[in-house]
Amino acid sequence: MTPTEVVDRLLPARLQARASSEQFAPSNIALCKYWGKRERSLNLPVNASLSVSLDHLGSHTRLTPIDAKQDEIRFNGRPLPLHAAFSQRVTAFIDLFRRQQPLYFRVETRNTIPTAAGLASSASGFAALTLALNDALGLELEPRLLSVLARLGSGSACRSLFDGFVEWRMGRRADGLDSHAVALEARWPGLCVGLVKVDTAQKAVDSRAGMQRTLETAHLYQSWPLQAAADLEKLHRAIAQQDFALLGQTAEQNALSMHATMIASWPPLLYWQPQSVAMMQTVWALRGQGVPLYFTMDAGPNLKLLFERPQRDAVLRHFPELEIVEPFATG
Ligand code: PMV
Repeated sequence: MTPTEVVDRLLPARLQARASSEQFAPSNIALCKYWGKRERSLNLPVNASLSVSLDHLGSHTRLTPIDAKQDEIRFNGRPLPLHAAFSQRVTAFIDLFRRQQPLYFRVETRNTIPTAAGLASSASGFAALTLALNDALGLELEPRLLSVLARLGSGSACRSLFDGFVEWRMGRRADGLDSHAVALEARWPGLCVGLVKVDTAQKAVDSRAGMQRTLETAHLYQSWPLQAAADLEKLHRAIAQQDFALLGQTAEQNALSMHATMIASWPPLLYWQPQSVAMMQTVWALRGQGVPLYFTMDAGPNLKLLFERPQRDAVLRHFPELEIVEPFATG
């Protein structure tokens, strides 16, 4: 099944651009990672994943209908040529909605997070774009279906439709209509996510290509679905019992297991830089001194630290540049 066939099942045949719309979606950090697709064109995952959304850090996307024969793309205040990789992904996603109808937009995206440095900006970008299309085209789709659509842009985007803890249920259907995220009710006041910026440059191999290479070439990948299923179960338990050590340990081990599969692929995929390793060692040293501090990492060199509010000062002493987000501070 193609993405267009899936969209045909969800949207009316004729669409009209009603108004301009600006929408926000948060970035999200997976505590149990999505790594590997069972179906590539629909971004259907091999495993379920669980994330926490980053509150105010994410993407603002404004869509304005224009009387033109192609879209106009602006990113962080600058016009982007349509042949740029980012523009191509955005226009291909909008193509799914317009399906040959002459509906073109000025798309202005502003990120409050560094792009393509393992900080999941494609997730918030496609989630905000999905919300803006839903609004500008008057679709009034329910969140579950918006999550299905956002997934077609980027897998992890299906989780950025929601705040707080979010689970992406992997689903079993060939059309992927059961593969979408759901928000968990549980909250965790005092939970902190610290962003350590080792390098915010564009990475050479994006997660899309990275996960495919791993799946095709790493024998170690065979153990990944089992690891992910066990970790998901532990994370649910940690969240229900507000057991921080279980949460941190599970997230860190899950991230390192994912990186182990990357390193075991060919050509090898190592996103770490010397500074990433030095920071891991700082985290482990602090933990040795009794500070409950853990990290997770995505397909990039940056660490995301996990700790609770009482540890804020101790953590800041060792990571003075840290940008701290409290996902449950508001609302
Ligand atoms: O949605 P993508 O294709 O950018 O993949 C995201 C993959 C990871 O960030 C490494 C893990 C995750 O679950 O977010």
